[in-house]
Amino acid sequence: MPSSTLGTNFRVTTFGESHGKALGAVIDGVRPGLPLTDEDVQRELDRRRPGQSQVTTSRKESDKAEILSGVFEGKTTGAPICIIVRNHDARPQDYEALRQVFRPGHADLTFLAKYGIRDHRGGGRASGRETVARVAAGAVAKKLLSRHGVRIIGHTVAVGGVWAKTFDEAAVEQNPVRCADPEAAVEMERTIREVAGAGDSIGGVVEVRALGVPKGWGDPVFMKLDARLAHAMMSIGGVKAVEIGAGFAAAAMRGSEHNDPITLQGFVSNNAGGILGGISNGEPIVVRLAVKPTSSIALPQRTVDVWGHEQTLSISGRHDPCLCPRIVPVAEAMAALVLADACLTQEAVSGAKKDLHDLRDAIDLVDADLVAVLAQRFALVEEVGRLKREAGLPIMQPAREQEVKDRFLALAEAHGLAPTIAAPILDLLLALSRDLQGRLA
Ligand SMILES: Cc1cc2nc3c(=O)[nH]c(=O)nc-3n(C[C@H](O)[C@H](O)[C@H](O)COP(=O)(O)O)c2cc1C
Repeated sequence: MPSSTLGTNFRVTTFGESHGKALGAVIDGVRPGLPLTDEDVQRELDRRRPGQSQVTTSRKESDKAEILSGVFEGKTTGAPICIIVRNHDARPQDYEALRQVFRPGHADLTFLAKYGIRDHRGGGRASGRETVARVAAGAVAKKLLSRHGVRIIGHTVAVGGVWAKTFDEAAVEQNPVRCADPEAAVEMERTIREVAGAGDSIGGVVEVRALGVPKGWGDPVFMKLDARLAHAMMSIGGVKAVEIGAGFAAAAMRGSEHNDPITLQGFVSNNAGGILGGISNGEPIVVRLAVKPTSSIALPQRTVDVWGHEQTLSISGRHDPCLCPRIVPVAEAMAALVLADACLTQEAVSGAKKDLHDLRDAIDLVDADLVAVLAQRFALVEEVGRLKREAGLPIMQPAREQEVKDRFLALAEAHGLAPTIAAPILDLLLALSRDLQGRLA
């Protein structure tokens, strides 16, 4: 599969570069009828947007989402959904000095080795800015998942050596580091400012929790849910390790400690991180990402240029001194993309059972037809009433009513509709019809 595409049934391809005209995603596999608006996507993009605080890059992108296709009157059509975000605050001149030199910690050297050509402006395709397209696609995946009761929460659990000790979900969007522990957040922010002030950067840990994932999503063997989550998370620039549940701590545990006991009420603990044998077990899915310190730093670093000369490089420009706060919405999006794909795959495996939302949507469509048919019926009843009045005929005509009843109930039986439902509906229709004609007289 081409390297810019992720997923099998919910398939996303991203395109665009940091300093090109636009970035975007094409999402294929979304069924028709999913409510989706620009605002649904914008809400997520606003959380990823640069320039939100002093601990993130000052690049000022409005990151306005434009849905180009696949949505009609606020609902998906089943056609590929294309979303783009145009670049406005690109400053390629900031990168002119880096045209011939390889930045340590960046993909400059490896891109040139692979393609023989590279877009030096902001890392091009290797830029963190590419993730704007993932977040846009993730917004669609989140929308789909919300219909299955799945919710995804991302937060920063560590910056440098400062760890969150408590978890208050409401606190996450209230502080610039996106930490669920308000006290630790203050300390994290202080640490980031300190290292940034020294021209340096710092790493951290981001956690993503997926709540409400039912048992049975994922696959054994090569497409294990944990393997796919790890793949997705490791594809985010700057992520150097991924752990699920107890993760690396499992290596120091005993089986008696690590196994999650099972009771009739469910699992007692969640060292598995919600996944057993590559398949979800109904517990929250917990994934943690080790995020490296931002590569672009003002401090002098040793490197080489394309002509093979050693250089000393200090990087100016606009950079995140700690990537964690900006990786939180990206990691949520990647979890959503993997889970949406697993969801559609499971629907295919289980014979595409319709969920509550699908069934309710179908009822809404039937109700709309029903109302149109009723309006048509009462318009005819009114016309008949007028003719009866002109001809001086009585409103109540028992022989005609009996004829209507016999035919209606026979039709109902042929459609499998019980007489206990069909008969009272017809009685009500006849009573309302008589009433309407009576008011005309
Ligand atoms: C949302 C986001 C923003 C990023 N911002 C920066 C940045 O401002 N400066 C920087 O040096 N790296 C930034 N990165 C990280 C680089 O993209 C990444 O380190 C680089 O492409 C090399 O990839 P690797 O670290 O995965 O090997 C960002 C990554 C993400 C996901």
